[in-house]
Amino acid sequence: MPSSTQELEKAPHVMASTPSPRHFLDICDLDSKTLRRIIDAAHAMKKAGKRVPKDYRPKHIEDIVLAMIFEKPSTRTRVSFDIAMRQLGGGALTLNHMDLQLGRGESVADTARVLSRYVDGIMIRANAHATLLELAKYATIPVINGLTEKSHPCQVMADIQTFEEHLGPIEGKTVAWVGDGNNVAVSWMHAAVRFGFKLRLACPKALFPEDEAVEWVKREKGDVEIGTDPERAVKGADCVVTDTWVSMGQSDADERKKMLAPYAVDEKLMRKAAKNAIFMHCLPAYRGHEVTEDVLEGPQSVIFDEAENRLHAQKAILAWCFGA
Ligand code: CP
Ligand code: NVA
Repeated sequence: MPSSTQELEKAPHVMASTPSPRHFLDICDLDSKTLRRIIDAAHAMKKAGKRVPKDYRPKHIEDIVLAMIFEKPSTRTRVSFDIAMRQLGGGALTLNHMDLQLGRGESVADTARVLSRYVDGIMIRANAHATLLELAKYATIPVINGLTEKSHPCQVMADIQTFEEHLGPIEGKTVAWVGDGNNVAVSWMHAAVRFGFKLRLACPKALFPEDEAVEWVKREKGDVEIGTDPERAVKGADCVVTDTWVSMGQSDADERKKMLAPYAVDEKLMRKAAKNAIFMHCLPAYRGHEVTEDVLEGPQSVIFDEAENRLHAQKAILAWCFGA
């Protein structure tokens, strides 16, 4: 299986004349202009409400169906993608991987080729990033990353939309990430480069973001600083972000909680940020661990706008994938 997007080549069975589907696998795979257009569409879609205006809808959307495969639990991703497809005018179906032959060993490659004959796009929340890439390699329809252990690009697109709603264009602003250098942090790193903002991460050394993302940011000359001091990261920042200390599929919960205890976001830390700073968390949140109740429920918190914007950002991502 391919382990990175760079290794993603077309599968041998796909005829040379087949145009490449518009996959949404990672923010780093798309150019800044395309990403900007998607965010602008997300803002417009939110304004337009439940019925997406014709101009933003892909052609023949009424015939388009998205299959959603889940190898891990989900509330927001599952519901927002389903509703996004309905609001665009198409359809969606949810597939738990254990209900598919995939769950008893059918290959990802065969699953991709079979689903490509039935539906028009696949969103997958995968245990392994390699599964996402294998699916994209063999599918002849767009594949969307609904979270893997390596990244969560749809979440961060919604976060960019949320930031801009509250504080205007994100270009040139400063975002602080405090906590685990996990999948969501990696998508923030990709976004910092593509949207041109400063990102300061504070993580325990053992939980720094993975080397592949760090190297990519270096090559792209991104304004991304990775350290271990939460106060330094947060000082003057426009936005403070954190996430759970124990991501889905991780078993070393006790060790992580010990390492991450000094990285809890509380009011004292928030006071170091800019006066009008916002607080973000992709949810689900664990109160009293990565964030205190008063910050999560306080006036700087925009967590439910973020959750809502999954719907609007994904309508824009889906519209792009389906050719709008
Ligand atoms: N933030 C997020 O992806 O939530 P779910 O796990 O509920 O989909
Ligand atoms: N980092 C978390 C995000 C959940 C939406 C996880 O992977 O479990």
